[in-house]
Amino acid sequence: MREGAHGGRIAAYPAEDSSRVATRRPPGPFRDRPRRVGRKSTTREPIIQEPESYDPGNTVDSTSEATRRDAGVTESARANRGWWDRNADEYQVEHGTFLGDDRFVWGPEGLDEVEAELLGPPEALKDKEVLEIGAGAGQCARWLAAQGARPVALDLSHRQLQHALRIGGSFPLVCADASALPFADGSFDLACSAYGALPFVADPRLVLREVRRVLRPGGRFVFSVTHPIRWAFPDEPGPEGLSVSSSYFDRTPYVEQDEQGRAVYVEHHRTLGDRVRDVVASGFRLVDLVEPEWPAWNTSEWGGWSPLRGSLLPGTAVFVCERD
Ligand SMILES: C[S@@+](CC[C@H](N)C(=O)[O-])C[C@H]1O[C@@H](n2cnc3c(N)ncnc32)[C@H](O)[C@@H]1O
Repeated sequence: MREGAHGGRIAAYPAEDSSRVATRRPPGPFRDRPRRVGRKSTTREPIIQEPESYDPGNTVDSTSEATRRDAGVTESARANRGWWDRNADEYQVEHGTFLGDDRFVWGPEGLDEVEAELLGPPEALKDKEVLEIGAGAGQCARWLAAQGARPVALDLSHRQLQHALRIGGSFPLVCADASALPFADGSFDLACSAYGALPFVADPRLVLREVRRVLRPGGRFVFSVTHPIRWAFPDEPGPEGLSVSSSYFDRTPYVEQDEQGRAVYVEHHRTLGDRVRDVVASGFRLVDLVEPEWPAWNTSEWGGWSPLRGSLLPGTAVFVCERD
């Protein structure tokens, strides 16, 4: 356990080196393909104050090159932990207002759990033990707590969880990899993940099996990821993002690497069929697959997600899974 920003605590698994704790800067959200320069924030100012002498350590990202190549479980986890630690501040500055401190938003379309009820009716959440995976600043967990649920917010990035501490809330924060959940079998009634972990791991079945293990019989896991069709298009919000530029069937990961060829950011592509097979092979029933449509009220861009592309192509896939 390590002290967090506001005297709260973040439980870390496995026990780790405290010198690793984060930085600030670089671009956007889940990385674009090919790389785009992130937008300047129009929302909130940087939030966690660092000492004067603090080294942001962002040169890794500013000198990295984008490519498609293989990246295994360990390399992907190490790269993404570093990337999210370095970029958590930027992510929360850029997207914190859209996400809200205590809303449950499934993706850039703005689908809200209040209307979607993918975890069930809000009144049925009371007293439910819920694991949020890839929780970031814990916005969804905070909404769940407000419904009377008992959430636990887990993330690979200590810096993201420091933002959860900054915003506040009285639920546990756990710093761990979703591929090795530090919980006993059957600990939770529900699990959820809004773009957390699954887009970033080399072996999604490791995560799905872990989630199944920690769920009680009848438990539900709902997770959102980038809609697989997006991998065939350039990750651009404008018209240039509407022409197919690579094969939908090419599962080669998107990797950013430093000058030594070490991955500093990784995203993994699975086709829709792959995702369905992953869910079923991991012991879940697929109850629903939601492709949120872009609503008229949402005029915001989020990286390559935009009203233009959203009106023509799905941008998010939400999988609703149950274990027997
Ligand atoms: C796109 S952010 C989403 C955060 C939050 N759910 C939201 O909607 O803002 C992805 C999050 O997944 C976390 N993540 C990536 N790989 C992970 C892993 N293997 N285990 C747990 N969390 C992971 C990142 O640290 C990051 O906070």
